[in-house]
Amino acid sequence: MTLSRTEAQARILGGYDDASRLRQVHDRDWVLDRVPGAPEVLIDLGSGIGQLLQEALEQLPSLRLAVGLERSEHRIAEATERLRPAGSRVVLHRADLTAPAPLPHRADVVTMTSVLHWLYPVEHRVLEWVRTHLRPGGSFLLTTYHPAADRHGLGGEDDIVRDALTGLGVRRDAVPGLFGDHGVLPIATRTRPVPELGALLAEFFEITAYWEREAVVTVRDAAQYEHFHAATFGDYYAAVLPAPERAAFYREVGRAAWERQQHAGRVSAMPVRLWKLTPRHDTP
Ligand SMILES: C[S@@+](CC[C@H](N)C(=O)[O-])C[C@H]1O[C@@H](n2cnc3c(N)ncnc32)[C@H](O)[C@@H]1O
Repeated sequence: MTLSRTEAQARILGGYDDASRLRQVHDRDWVLDRVPGAPEVLIDLGSGIGQLLQEALEQLPSLRLAVGLERSEHRIAEATERLRPAGSRVVLHRADLTAPAPLPHRADVVTMTSVLHWLYPVEHRVLEWVRTHLRPGGSFLLTTYHPAADRHGLGGEDDIVRDALTGLGVRRDAVPGLFGDHGVLPIATRTRPVPELGALLAEFFEITAYWEREAVVTVRDAAQYEHFHAATFGDYYAAVLPAPERAAFYREVGRAAWERQQHAGRVSAMPVRLWKLTPRHDTP
């Protein structure tokens, strides 16, 4: 079967350089502006196509080593190309952060932007990994997204997907069940509410500071959101439908997002929190 352009893009999470300008790239400078001192080793978890590592190498001349851990082989390949000029100052590891293996590096700073929700419900594994891979007094800079959840635990991108599925003839109240049948955990469940996440983080770290911003997404047309969805979520949601219906699904996601923008002046808005954490070695 021939794949549509968006289906092919979603398979490899392609087009992220472009798509991330709509939301995720804002986390990069927000985080890097809060890196303390003159770090020698920085580890970025879920390093994607290497944008944060590239910027860190440019902004922080003290950096001897910038390490990226990432699951997607396509993203590692793109990051390798992007970071080639930095030579031996960069190491990229292919890793699954739901079961992170120990590494020999000890970091002054660990960063993780827009990733933690993908590790639900076993985030404690990566949090323990960070605690043991930070030097004493080191900093963990973490961004987390917090869309409001409805009584089914759906919100944020789940809502746009629900509109799209409804547009394709799925009954609105059947969507949570369809997610469940296909093992799709709603993003608004994965992201956890701030107090719950704060309690989890406090098991491993002292929360030394936090900042909040509103992530507002606007697009120029439906096609731009279709592209953003495929680059960010891949086929995570599309997999609830049979293969022949997926091209139409991506188009419908774009249409649903564009309709929201026409009504509300934006596709979505949600709070994002930046946590500055330092390891605790006592028992809470
Ligand atoms: C929304 S992107 C964020 C990328 C980058 N940190 C940024 O802020 O632009 C989420 C990234 O986490 C990666 N990821 C998701 N689950 C992962 C896992 N279990 N292990 C490692 N990386 C994972 C994805 O492949 C993707 O590159």
